[in-house]
Amino acid sequence: MGKDEDYSVKLQLIDRQRLPAHIAVIMDGNGRWAAARNRPRSFGHRAGAEALRRCTEICRELGVASLSVYAFSTENWRRPADEVSFLMKLLIEYLRQEVRTMNEQDIALGFLGEREGLPDAVLAALDQALAATAQSRSMRLNLAINYGGRRELALAARRLAEQAVSGELNAADIDERALAAQLFDGGGEVDLLIRPSGEQRISNFLLYQAAYAELYFCPVLWPDFGKNDLLDAVIDYQRRERRFGNIGQV
Ligand code: IPE
Ligand code: IPE
Ligand code: MG
Repeated sequence: MGKDEDYSVKLQLIDRQRLPAHIAVIMDGNGRWAAARNRPRSFGHRAGAEALRRCTEICRELGVASLSVYAFSTENWRRPADEVSFLMKLLIEYLRQEVRTMNEQDIALGFLGEREGLPDAVLAALDQALAATAQSRSMRLNLAINYGGRRELALAARRLAEQAVSGELNAADIDERALAAQLFDGGGEVDLLIRPSGEQRISNFLLYQAAYAELYFCPVLWPDFGKNDLLDAVIDYQRRERRFGNIGQV
């Protein structure tokens, strides 16, 4: 069976009424993909950006409301300076190039992460893309850049403490909802968390929002992750029973 044929068969297996509303992806494996081809890691990151374009397109076609992708973690600053600066350059390029397509496809950009620490040029490209796509309604693509789940929770705790100190908030009113309201805008409950590349860990992504996410791991390296792989993940998701602590269907 050819790839396209395979795709249309898989598409028919998907129940459009039970799509994951929020898919999160840890885009991992670019470096290994490049190494397997005797190419520099930057080559893998470029191919990774293409995979993101494909993944966004298929999510949009399916009708997934939000896609959050991990592009650069708070821990990724530990990488060699030349790789970090290449990734920043690639992000700027991506943001500049994607605005037109995002507008055509009615996709709004979102940002998950801490602005502090990011180069001015990245912030400028980000702000421009955020503003240019703000009116889009069909789907939201959240880019997690300089994102760390622990950092996000620490910043939320700090803001709640500030509000308590200033008298705006009673400590007794701090609950899950109050905490969630202080998280980066657009994160929200994750339904399906996908990590390609064979690693089976969360790596500090959406720790709070993925509390009840269905986890999907696959061996494909991110640059090879295609439409069929996304459909496989959604099909797998739809076969699961999400019980949220309850006893499920009886
Ligand atoms: C993911 O691919 C991209 C980023 C973390 C920015 P990696 O660069 O982690 O690729 P591997 O895991 O080394 O193969
Ligand atoms: C997670 O991948 C971060 C991103 C994909 C942006 P890493 O490659 O940095 O994660 P670890 O270090 O293998 O856990
Ligand atoms: Mg990696």
